[in-house]
Amino acid sequence: MQFVVAIDGPAAAGKGTIARAVAERFGFAHLDTGLLYRAIGVKALAQGRGVVDEGLAALIARDLTLEELQGDELRGARAARAASKVAAMPEVRTELREFQRRFAAREAGAVLDGRDIGTVICPEAQVKLFVVADDATRARRRLAELTQRGEDTTFEGVLADLQARDARDSQRATSPMRRAEDAHLLDTTELSIDAAVDKATQIIEQALDRAKA
Ligand code: C5P
Repeated sequence: MQFVVAIDGPAAAGKGTIARAVAERFGFAHLDTGLLYRAIGVKALAQGRGVVDEGLAALIARDLTLEELQGDELRGARAARAASKVAAMPEVRTELREFQRRFAAREAGAVLDGRDIGTVICPEAQVKLFVVADDATRARRRLAELTQRGEDTTFEGVLADLQARDARDSQRATSPMRRAEDAHLLDTTELSIDAAVDKATQIIEQALDRAKA
């Protein structure tokens, strides 16, 4: 049985944490699609000597492999900024569409998290979640992550970065970030990680029961 969980939402709302936890719980494969854009952004910056060219970024996207999504550098703030630039390029998104759909088609089930999974990549997903949290909460969480990585940054800097990225992601012409009409809204502002994962788990269990019935 093919079963897809699509998790979208803005940066640092908790998508990745929820996606990893439910993938493990249900034995589904997990793809953090942000890493695709991060890997392309970092490579395009390096090859373009600091300038990101759309043709070059699309070529990099065409040849991208899962093995290239491993580097620790991809988790940093620089990679996030580069990602959000290449993510606005239609040629890059076209190149990545099939890659993501092939991943989603795995027999054992798949969880994909990103910005356009429920709307564009897997509009037929059995479960769609749109995960949000207020700006200050997201900035606090991301600051803790970046500080732990040893990046020298401030709450104000992280907040400004997140807001700029959200604006670019939701206002771009191609596949903007938005909640699919049939997506469950999950606001994690006041939730612990366990409570957020529990809510997502309940929604997935109900959908699995429906799919098996
Ligand atoms: O989720 P993450 O913060 O790693 O994503 C980095 C950037 O990649 C986002 O700001 C967004 O611009 C882009 N992205 C996207 N579509 C996705 C996943 C990520 O446009 N499905």
